[in-house]
Amino acid sequence: MTVLVGIAGSLRRRSLNAALLRSAATLLPDGVTLDIASLAPVPLYNGDLEADQGIPAGVADLKERVARADGLLVATPEYNNAMPGVLKNAVDWLSRPAQDIKRVYGGKPLALMGASPGRLGTALAQASWLPVWRTLGVRLYSGGGFLYVPTATAAFDDDGELIDEKLRERLGAYLRGFVDFVRAAGTA
Ligand code: FNR
Repeated sequence: MTVLVGIAGSLRRRSLNAALLRSAATLLPDGVTLDIASLAPVPLYNGDLEADQGIPAGVADLKERVARADGLLVATPEYNNAMPGVLKNAVDWLSRPAQDIKRVYGGKPLALMGASPGRLGTALAQASWLPVWRTLGVRLYSGGGFLYVPTATAAFDDDGELIDEKLRERLGAYLRGFVDFVRAAGTA
């Protein structure tokens, strides 16, 4: 079994990125599970909190799920042409303490995607993640092109179901390519 952890960088109930991730869970090849994580239990990073109390329970749980996973699927919103703070905050927490970076992120296959109501569909947010992934040493999947979802409010219905058939096909193909990449990386 290949285990992926999925993280959507939004706390919003009707998040387009959470809907994209839930759609991804229905389009995975056989033998793959997607463990969708919530960022709700992750507090704002504060070095004093870390020094006084260590890694908070909600962070430690997410960190171990990511460390154990064969790959990571991240759906990023775009805020002001870059990644949103709520997701960067979680990624930063998981990089603490620094000696755990290799265990949690090192060589971890990671695929990025994102949805926004705008015309660029998170292209700039995805680009803004590149120095972060490089710093953390993940293995970024780039074989399947880019999974941008522009004008995303039209791609999902009111229940968050993916109703854009072309996108459904593209997402399925992207995920199949990513799973091949994960398996070839030898983490699965
Ligand atoms: C946005 N949004 C946005 N969209 C975009 O395509 N480019 C951008 O630069 C921004 N900037 C931005 C800043 C801030 C502060 C907010 C709150 C929003 C719109 C954003 O893409 C939209 O709210 C998405 O629906 C957010 O993702 P979720 O919550 O639906 O997953």
